[in-house]
Amino acid sequence: MTLLIFTVAMHYSKAKVKPRRLYIRDQVDLTLDSVYDLCGLCVSGVKRRKEEAMQLDGRVAIVTGGGGAIGRAICLGLAREGAKVAVSDLNLAAAQETAARLGSPAIALQADVSKEEDVVRMVDETVRHFGGLNILVNNAGICPRTPVLEMGADEWDRVLGTNLRSVFLCSKAAAKVMKSAGGGKIVNISSGRGISGMKWSAHYASSKGGINGFTRTLGMEWAEYGINVNAVGPGITDTPLVRAIHTEKELEARAGIQPEKRLGQPEDVVGAVIFLCSEASKAMYGQIIYMKTP
Ligand SMILES: NC(=O)c1ccc[n+]([C@@H]2O[C@H](COP(=O)([O-])OP(=O)(O)OC[C@H]3O[C@@H](n4cnc5c(N)ncnc54)[C@H](O)[C@@H]3O)[C@@H](O)[C@H]2O)c1
Repeated sequence: MTLLIFTVAMHYSKAKVKPRRLYIRDQVDLTLDSVYDLCGLCVSGVKRRKEEAMQLDGRVAIVTGGGGAIGRAICLGLAREGAKVAVSDLNLAAAQETAARLGSPAIALQADVSKEEDVVRMVDETVRHFGGLNILVNNAGICPRTPVLEMGADEWDRVLGTNLRSVFLCSKAAAKVMKSAGGGKIVNISSGRGISGMKWSAHYASSKGGINGFTRTLGMEWAEYGINVNAVGPGITDTPLVRAIHTEKELEARAGIQPEKRLGQPEDVVGAVIFLCSEASKAMYGQIIYMKTP
C-alpha cells in the first residue's frame, strides 16, 4: 500500500501525465485514475474528482441535522466540492461520525436548532473556528405521525419548533454574518408534503408549507444583501425518519408510484443542494426545487 501511494504521488507530481496502467505483483490491473480514486476513498471517505474544478473551494458551511441520513449525504457532497463543514446535530455522536468521514476540514457541533441560544452558539463557534460563514443548509427535521384529534399542543409545538422555528432562527443568525461579508447561500430542506399535505402529520406538512413561504419571502427580502435563499424538496427518501413512520408494505407502495419505481436515496438530494450553494445559481432567489412530483 505504501509503495502504491508513493507511486501515485510521484505520478501526480508531474504536471502533464496521461493515465497509464499500473501492473501490481498480484496481477491486479488498475489505471492510475482508479488507484487515485481508491486511495482518496481509503484516506478520507470522500471521492474527489480530479478533473473537475471544485465548486465550493474554501467556503464555510453549516449543515443542521448533519448527523442524519440526508444531512450526512449533503455534508459529504459539500466537502467533496471543497467546503469546510460545521456538522451540527442534536445528536453529537452522529455529528461527530459525519465529520470524521469528510475529507475536508470539519467540526461537529451539538445544537438544538429550535433553541435560540444553541443556534447563536452554533454560528459563533463556526465563525470562530473557520473565520466566516458562506453557506447554511437548514436540514434538521422530525416527522411524527399522529391524527390531529389525538395530537397534543406540545407535539405540534415540537414539530413546528424543530422544522420551522429553527429555519427562522438559523437563517437570521447566519444572515447577520453573511450580510456583513457581502453575501451567502441558504438552502432549506422542504418537502413535497408542504404542498400535498400528509395524513396524520398535519404539523409536518404545515412546517414544510411554512418553509416554502419563508423561503419565497427571504428570497426577496435578502436579495439586496447578496444572500440567495432557496429550498429543495426531496421526494420520499429511504431514511430512519421515513422507516419510523411507514411499514414495509407502505414503503413498497410508495416506491411503486415514484417515477423511477424506487424510494429516493439520500444522495439524490445532494446535486440540487450543491447547485443552490454554488455560483451557478446566483440568480435564483426564493425558488423551491422538488426532486420528484409531490
Ligand atoms: N426522508 C424523506 O423521505 C424526506 C422527504 C422530504 C424531506 N425530508 C426532510 O429531510 C430532512 C432530513 O431528514 P432525514 O430523512 O435525513 O431524517 P433523519 O432522521 O435521518 O435526520 C434528521 C436529523 O435531524 C436531527 N434533529 C432532530 N431534531 C433536531 C433538533 N431539534 N436540533 C438539531 N437536530 C435535530 C436528528 O438528530 C437527525 O440527525 C428533514 O428536514 C426532512 O423533513 C425527508
